[in-house]
Amino acid sequence: MLGRLGPALKATLLTSRGYELYRPTHLERTILRSVWEDWFRSDIERFAKVYGTNRRALAEVPQWARADVLAQSLWRYGVPEQWDTGRQGLGVTGLNEIESEPTYSDLIAFICAGLPELRYLELGVSVGKNLFQIARNCPSARIVGLDIERINPVLSEALGKEFTPGPALSAQTVDTLSGVQTEVQLQTFSADNITYVRGDQFRSETWAAMKPDRFNFVFSDAHHSGHALLTELDFLLDHGLIDTSGAFMMYWDDLVDIQMQDAFDRCARRLREVFGRGWHGLHWIHGTYSSRRLNGLFSTEPPPSPA
Ligand SMILES: C[S@@+](CC[C@H](N)C(=O)[O-])C[C@H]1O[C@@H](n2cnc3c(N)ncnc32)[C@H](O)[C@@H]1O
Repeated sequence: MLGRLGPALKATLLTSRGYELYRPTHLERTILRSVWEDWFRSDIERFAKVYGTNRRALAEVPQWARADVLAQSLWRYGVPEQWDTGRQGLGVTGLNEIESEPTYSDLIAFICAGLPELRYLELGVSVGKNLFQIARNCPSARIVGLDIERINPVLSEALGKEFTPGPALSAQTVDTLSGVQTEVQLQTFSADNITYVRGDQFRSETWAAMKPDRFNFVFSDAHHSGHALLTELDFLLDHGLIDTSGAFMMYWDDLVDIQMQDAFDRCARRLREVFGRGWHGLHWIHGTYSSRRLNGLFSTEPPPSPA
């Protein structure tokens, strides 16, 4: 539809008017109406509480990624090198910095704090900077995190928990940053209300290890590809891991390109079919340790109306 308009018109005219082109034929007005601000405005006291809790939580952890842990990791926990060399660009939040601007962790924690009986699943825990903030805001919630890496010892220390390993489930051969494949043991590690699943998101048995949990909030932030987004939703639904009996929300980080945005749109439409209701949209927001990015939210409940 927009092919004939030309790239200059798409890039300048449309974006300057607050439109986001997220599929070849889909235009969404996202920039001028910042949906995350609407959520915060809907309950300013809850926002203040979450914001304060998150900044205090982050102040507790002086170093998220220790050199020895990164050296033994498969993918550096998804943490870019400049964050431990001190070479930080303008507008980029380093791993240990505390960001004053609202971040997606603030938004997720804000929404989660309003969900009765939160059952939270984070796909891609990394060093745990976001998961830690959710745990601090929602101490009685059921929290499950999945990552191909071992649990970051800094995260377990910050949580003050000793994680008990479950039985070794199966060996998974996975790619690594070095290009050499390695074997990872699918295994769960539990402490009180929190379970860490170490495994590959592309294997069905990884999702089977999360049963019998059924989640009402899922944060998708593991393998950043359209294929990963589509297959993870298949696995979630096939294994009955989504609670379809009440309110449900799913959040996607880093919808950087058309493939990711297209996959987000498909996932959200599929969820709308499953629930028979729902709403989804894109918005720009700061990351927990990176600059502003385009993120997506699906909610069975209507978004708060703008103030
Ligand atoms: C961007 S980081 C997650 C950041 C984290 N959610 C936060 O906000 O603090 C992505 C994580 O996904 C994990 N990951 C990448 N591929 C994966 C796979 N195939 N299975 C499971 N985890 C994977 C990486 O190890 C990395 O730690």
